[in-house]
Amino acid sequence: MSLFDKIDSRRVPAHVAIIMDGNGRWAKSRGLERADGHREGVASVRKIVEAASKVGIKYLTVYAFSTENWKRPQSEVDALMDLMIYAIVKETPDLLKNGIRLLCIGDLNRLPDKTREALLECIDKTSGGNTSTLVLALSYSSRWEIAEAAKRIAEAACHRELDIESINESVFSEYLLTRNIPDPDLLIRTGGEQRISNFLLWQTAYAEFYFTDTFWPDFGEENLFEAIIEYQQRERRFGKTSEQIESEN
Ligand code: IPE
Ligand code: IPE
Ligand code: MG
Repeated sequence: MSLFDKIDSRRVPAHVAIIMDGNGRWAKSRGLERADGHREGVASVRKIVEAASKVGIKYLTVYAFSTENWKRPQSEVDALMDLMIYAIVKETPDLLKNGIRLLCIGDLNRLPDKTREALLECIDKTSGGNTSTLVLALSYSSRWEIAEAAKRIAEAACHRELDIESINESVFSEYLLTRNIPDPDLLIRTGGEQRISNFLLWQTAYAEFYFTDTFWPDFGEENLFEAIIEYQQRERRFGKTSEQIESEN
């Protein structure tokens, strides 16, 4: 029996965010190159996008490359940027067929021209997709995103387009790259590390965290279902008491 049957279809997380970690160690454990791990990682993304659609997840955000990852050896960065083009071009027809819209968060200016062009083309082609949204976090870091938002808020205030007294959490959120995207309900990190690595710091304020030792290339449909089932067993209190939550339900 698939774990799929154990999922309560009424309480599926609307937004799942994933820190896809462990490609390098997966490759090393098989005597392969790190780039082989990244290639296998792309296959996992495809499987998980499909599995997420199957359970009705509306938003799936995947952390593909952090701002800090620019510090990796140039050969690995180059391999990743090329792989990104290959994966985007190859997957665009299926995204279109399945009504999946691609969005991207991150500092796209730092990407090689060819990678950025492939990405923008896919975003444009899939913009009409209304079944679900795949958000690629690429050249992304949360502190960078928050600092950029602060900069633009300051600019708007200087130009008198924004009244300082009106700035609150919801106004601030509008200046983040994730505006119009609901906060993640569930954050998954594969690969055994239990840290956030500069990912969606603002947006995960009340997300449920799920850590697994499974390396990303080994993470498949059933692993996603397992995480969702665990999520469904948690009580999200948002600061309230258990009794309050029970009476609301
Ligand atoms: C995650 O896998 C992919 C990226 C960060 C691009 P890693 O490459 O970090 O794999 P490990 O953590 O070294 O095993
Ligand atoms: C986080 O993984 C970034 C991505 C998965 C893209 P890292 O492997 O870069 O994280 P650290 O360096 O171990 O924290
Ligand atoms: Mg890693």
